[in-house]
Order: sequence, then C-alpha cells, then structure tokens
Amino acid sequence: MTASVTASTVCSCSVFIVLFSVYVDSQDTDAQLCQMCQGTVRQDSPVWDFCLTKGHIRGRCCFGNNTSNVDTIIGLDLANCSISHVEHLYNSSTSFIIDLSNNPISNLSDFIFQGFNHLTQLLLPSKLECPGGNASWEKVEVKNNARICEGQKNICNQTAQMPWDCPENSFCSPYGPGFFECSCLHNFHGYKCMRQGEFPIAKVLGILTGSTVVVSSLLWFTQRRKAKNT
Ligand SMILES: *[C@@H]1O[C@H](CO)[C@@H](O)[C@H](O)[C@H]1NC(C)=O
Ligand SMILES: *[C@@H]1O[C@H](CO)[C@@H](O)[C@H](O)[C@H]1NC(C)=O
Ligand SMILES: *[C@@H]1O[C@H](CO)[C@@H](O)[C@H](O)[C@H]1NC(C)=O
Ligand SMILES: *[C@@H]1O[C@H](CO)[C@@H](O)[C@H](O)[C@H]1NC(C)=O
Ligand SMILES: *[C@@H]1O[C@H](CO)[C@@H](O)[C@H](O)[C@H]1NC(C)=O
Ligand SMILES: *[C@@H]1O[C@H](CO)[C@@H](O)[C@H](O)[C@H]1NC(C)=O
Ligand SMILES: *[C@@H]1O[C@H](CO)[C@@H](O)[C@H](O)[C@H]1NC(C)=O
Repeated sequence: MTASVTASTVCSCSVFIVLFSVYVDSQDTDAQLCQMCQGTVRQDSPVWDFCLTKGHIRGRCCFGNNTSNVDTIIGLDLANCSISHVEHLYNSSTSFIIDLSNNPISNLSDFIFQGFNHLTQLLLPSKLECPGGNASWEKVEVKNNARICEGQKNICNQTAQMPWDCPENSFCSPYGPGFFECSCLHNFHGYKCMRQGEFPIAKVLGILTGSTVVVSSLLWFTQRRKAKNT
C-alpha cells in the first residue's frame, strides 16, 4: 500500500479507497500479466535496458533483485502485443517503466495509472496523451511512433502552477501521474478531516481528461458516503 504513509502516526483518508479496493480485488489475475503477450521482454527494448542493471526478466516483466523488491514487478514490456484495450495493469503499480507502445490502443483511462508512484518512464502509442496530461511529466516526446512520458512530477508542490491545498489537518502526497491523496494528520479522522476544508476536486480534474470527470464525481460521492458511515 505504497502511499499509505507511516501508518502509525497517520490515519489515511484516501479519497481513492473505492478504486483501490477494486485494484486489490483484481490481484489474483496478476499471474497472467507477465504472460499476457508471447515471449519475454524484447531484447534491446527500453525495459530490457532498464532490467539489465536492476533486476531479472520473467516473461514480459522485469522483477527486482533487491531484497526489498525481489518479487515485485519493476518493469513491464507489453509493446507490440496487439493489445487494443487496457482496463487495468493489476499489481504492476510498483513499476518504474512500462512500455505499451506499438499497440492499437485507442483510449486509455488516467485511472489505470493511479497509485503508480514509482513510474518514471511510460511509453504509449503516439496518438495517446500522457496520463495526467503534459503537466504531470518532466518531459514528453514522440519518438519512433511512441509517446514517451518521462519523470513523473510531484503534483503536491507545484504551487506556482496549481495552487491547491489539502483540507486543513491533512497533507498531500503524490498518487500516480496527475493524482494526489490527502491523508489526515494524527488525531484527525476520516470524514471530519475531509470536511474541515473544501476538497479541491475541481482543481484535480482540471488537469485530467474530460472523460474522467463523471467517474471521479461518482467516486467522490460514494467515498463521501463511505466515510460518513465509518
Ligand atoms: C538478478 O538476479 C538474477 C538471478 O536471480 C541474475 O541472473 C541477474 O543477473 C541479477 N541482475 C542484476 C542486475 O544483478
Ligand atoms: C536496488 O538497490 C540499490 C542500492 O541498494 C538502488 O540503487 C536501486 O535503485 C534499487 N533498485 C530498485 C529497482 O529499487
Ligand atoms: C500480485 O498479487 C498476487 C496476489 O496478491 C501475488 O500472488 C503476486 O505475487 C503479485 N505479483 C507481483 C509481481 O507482485
Ligand atoms: C511485432 O511483432 C511481430 C511478431 O509478433 C514481429 O514480426 C514484428 O517485427 C514486431 N514489430 C516490431 C516493431 O517489433
Ligand atoms: C474506449 O473507447 C471505446 C469505444 O470507442 C469505449 O467503449 C470504451 O469505454 C473506452 N474506454 C475508456 C477506458 O475510455
Ligand atoms: C504534450 O506534449 C507533446 C509533445 O511536446 C505535444 O505533441 C502534445 O500536443 C502536448 N499535448 C497537450 C495536450 O498539450
Ligand atoms: C517537491 O517535493 C519533493 C519532495 O517532497 C522535492 O524533492 C522536490 O524538490 C520538490 N520540488 C519542488 C519544485 O519544490
């Protein structure tokens, strides 16, 4: 649970709990992710280069070699896999690099990459935009028919560009490209913590694509109800 920060002092009141539990539920099917496409990580591909110095390859995945990440996916190469639809990427949220280029994908929800805090390089078919928009990345370029999104920006301290704040008694932490979460400080709890300030949902959506607006509002309301009940 990457972004759930020091649990002992912090009571997390993630706005995205609903989606997160969906993600947890789907972990069983993860085994198929690395076998989703024939073969192994393509030789001399970006993920291959990354994995050479950082881990070992199994199927289309690169797994970490460090004791801290020996069984986590740190890279994923699903390029040239004839994938037309991506709904989620299971538990590859620990990835540093993901390659989805050279696939007939026509649209991709920003929510797929929610919680992908480590992601520093993402390769997409060139006609797709980087999740969270250009503003969520240090560098965006198109090369060899792929859009390369590099260096995830920390949305929480871009105050000059986007002057939003978490509600009083909470703090902001990044939660994947274009996403952040507000966690309550110690002694402050769920709904009350959120209620103390006006959560800037409109500003979050400001940098997301229009298609996500409906989903977010829906989540916002379900989450509010959930928080009220606890
Ligand atoms: C990672 O470990 C595997 C064996 O578990 C080894 O073959 C590989 O060379 C290691 N990679 C690095 C970068 O140390
Ligand atoms: C593995 O550990 C080394 C140092 O111990 C660190 O430099 C490297 O970034 C780690 N790799 C990953 C993928 O976390
Ligand atoms: C993904 O989650 C499943 C179920 O929790 C687990 O068995 C599997 O080892 C995980 N895979 C990775 C790469 O973390
Ligand atoms: C994509 O994969 C096919 C085989 O599945 C291969 O013939 C083709 O050369 C690959 N294209 C690229 C750009 O790697
Ligand atoms: C992608 O587009 C198809 C039709 O064009 C639509 O059915 C699907 O829901 C879209 N998916 C996402 C994630 O927006
Ligand atoms: C993002 O940056 C790329 C490359 O600089 C550019 O082609 C694209 O139009 C930009 N997208 C938006 C929505 O500004
Ligand atoms: C944003 O915060 C991170 C750590 O929280 C820091 O490393 C980085 O330098 C900050 N960026 C700016 C522009 O202040």
